[in-house]
Amino acid sequence: MADKLSLGVLVSGRGSNLQAIIEQIEQGKLDARIKIVISNLAGAPALTRAREQGIKTRLLEASPGEKREDYDRRLVEALRQEEVELVILAGFMRLLSPYLVRAFPQRIMNIHPALLPAFPGLQAQRKALEYGVKFSGCTVHFVDEGMDSGPIILQAVVPVLEQDTQESLAARILEQEHRIYPRAIQLYAQKRLQLKGRRVFIK
Ligand code: GRF
Repeated sequence: MADKLSLGVLVSGRGSNLQAIIEQIEQGKLDARIKIVISNLAGAPALTRAREQGIKTRLLEASPGEKREDYDRRLVEALRQEEVELVILAGFMRLLSPYLVRAFPQRIMNIHPALLPAFPGLQAQRKALEYGVKFSGCTVHFVDEGMDSGPIILQAVVPVLEQDTQESLAARILEQEHRIYPRAIQLYAQKRLQLKGRRVFIK
């Protein structure tokens, strides 16, 4: 098992991307193991999901008034304790401090429900619909110190249909998220991602 990539997954909510990753690991299509799932929110369904599947979890709530960097120091410690090699943001609803990003350079991935650099930040699906784009999708990227601005690893495109609501568009995008996130992690595990400037090449 030593050759498996060690993942630490950070969550705050539903955990459907976490589930997709777990399933790909179980099916032998992703050479990784989840060392720990950490949530900043006690009620996150993702935590229950992980626990039910025998994965170690940890609840790391921010104390009232705690500085972002102080929280992130605790987070880095928790990830290092588990010897996590790649940090996976899977619906983790906190901004990361530079301290956390620098602790895992090019070793944090995120998935965003839009074709970056369009519609960064929250409610990307709503913004895409309101803007009137004909295509949207999702992006897996390395995390840098900006907001949804790091080097792009994979993207998937979905059409925006005239009858779409936020929910129907989000659901169509989510299907693609579940496909490309595990795929990007597998490319990393196989050491096939090469970063040149801000471009990611797949070997
Ligand atoms: C997804 O839409 C993802 O793109 C965004 O947060 C959502 C997480 O969903 N970053 P889930 O918790 O993985 O179901």
